[in-house]
Amino acid sequence: MTVKVIRWGILATGNIAQTFTKDLLVDPATRDVYTVKHTVVAAASSSGVQRAREFLEQVKAPPTARPYGSYIDLAQDPDVDIIYISTPHSHHYQNVRLCLEAGKNVLCEKAFTVNAVQAKELVRLARQKDLFLMEALWTRYFPLSIYVRDTITSGKLGTIIRAFADNSLNFELEKNFHKEHRMVSPDLAGGALLDSGIYALTWIFQSVYTTQPGDTCKPPRVLSSVRKYGATGVDEAATILLSFPRDAQLGGDIHAIATTSFLVSNNIDGKGTSGPAVRIQGQNGELQVWPPLWRPNRTRLILADGTVEDKTFPIPGPGKGSGWYNGYPLVGMNSEGEGYGMFWEADEAGMALLEGRKEGIYESLDESVVIMEVMDEVRKQCGLVYPENIESTVATEL
Ligand SMILES: NC(=O)c1ccc[n+]([C@@H]2O[C@H](COP(=O)([O-])OP(=O)(O)OC[C@H]3O[C@@H](n4cnc5c(N)ncnc54)[C@H](OP(=O)(O)O)[C@@H]3O)[C@@H](O)[C@H]2O)c1
Ligand SMILES: *[C@@H]1O[C@H](CO)[C@@H](O)[C@H](O)[C@H]1NC(C)=O
Repeated sequence: MTVKVIRWGILATGNIAQTFTKDLLVDPATRDVYTVKHTVVAAASSSGVQRAREFLEQVKAPPTARPYGSYIDLAQDPDVDIIYISTPHSHHYQNVRLCLEAGKNVLCEKAFTVNAVQAKELVRLARQKDLFLMEALWTRYFPLSIYVRDTITSGKLGTIIRAFADNSLNFELEKNFHKEHRMVSPDLAGGALLDSGIYALTWIFQSVYTTQPGDTCKPPRVLSSVRKYGATGVDEAATILLSFPRDAQLGGDIHAIATTSFLVSNNIDGKGTSGPAVRIQGQNGELQVWPPLWRPNRTRLILADGTVEDKTFPIPGPGKGSGWYNGYPLVGMNSEGEGYGMFWEADEAGMALLEGRKEGIYESLDESVVIMEVMDEVRKQCGLVYPENIESTVATEL
């Protein structure tokens, strides 16, 4: 069997770029993937070639990988098959655009863009140029997420009626983030909704929207509230009611609540004692998922017939004794040899390139756009605005 080697370029060298790239370089055989392998051929930092060089050393990229001191140089490197973008949300539109225009396939971090108009423009451009484009919603590609969706579509829960999802982490904003930090700065499209609320919406969408056959479930009506962070004016918490129109014969409208907060945690001791963060309810039972919602590893199925089925989904990696560690600085490091879980989305991007597909298999570009539209609506209802230059679709350098 021939193995396709995917040649990645890494655009930006921040926290998640390090986590992603370290995961990317783990042998795919550790997760039973044998059709693709990944290599890093280049990385670019907007802060200069020296930072790009350091980054390549930090992640233990092959010594041949090239450091660049500007994003455009990376976009023009002929040896790069696909570029992973992990700049702040504010910059996604411009950075993705730059790469697509240079003829590169793209995997771009969440939230996909600042608004739906930008997302639609990127989708249009990718389709016009026949390039692969995917929002890096890594959680959708976890075996746990596949199990959740399969359980729902198998009909075990009966007709899906309602779902709850909460993604909340008490960041102690004043203490931990200066006003220019991407989590709270309006100039970098900060705030809970775009950064963390996207995961609550992801769980709602992959539970009740993606699982309904064909076009039987329509984009939701939305009612929302946000709380603003006094120091910068972005949202520090958001609460969203969603009503997904579905035909009466198929069960009628599906209701959902998605919540997110930077003020309270849904996993106080980090061990799940606070209970599940997702509840998906059907007429015959419910499926629960424990926090953290970006990287969950535990589910519980409870059926009306008395069934209670707990499952855990350990995240593979190089394993104990490897001396290898990964994690994410804002939430802490994992135990030795445990992967972070970002390799599954990378595998999907690689397999798409292998098979000539232009979108991710578990979240279409149209769905990414619908989710951006929901976040637009929340922002409109709650008066959450960002500076004009980062809401724009005009090509520019930020
Ligand atoms: N999937 C996940 O679990 C996950 C987790 C965390 C974050 N994310 C997403 O990944 C993105 C980056 O998050 P992060 O935590 O890695 O942020 P970060 O540590 O602040 O890194 C962002 C990087 O973007 C580049 N950048 C370019 N222009 C910038 C500007 N004006 N201000 C600040 N940085 C700028 C910088 O890299 P250079 O200097 O090298 O250009 C910077 O290091 C966000 O979209 C976030 O939502 C995803
Ligand atoms: C599940 O994740 C938690 C951290 O979120 C970790 O402490 C625990 O060991 C993990 N369980 C398994 C089975 O991987």
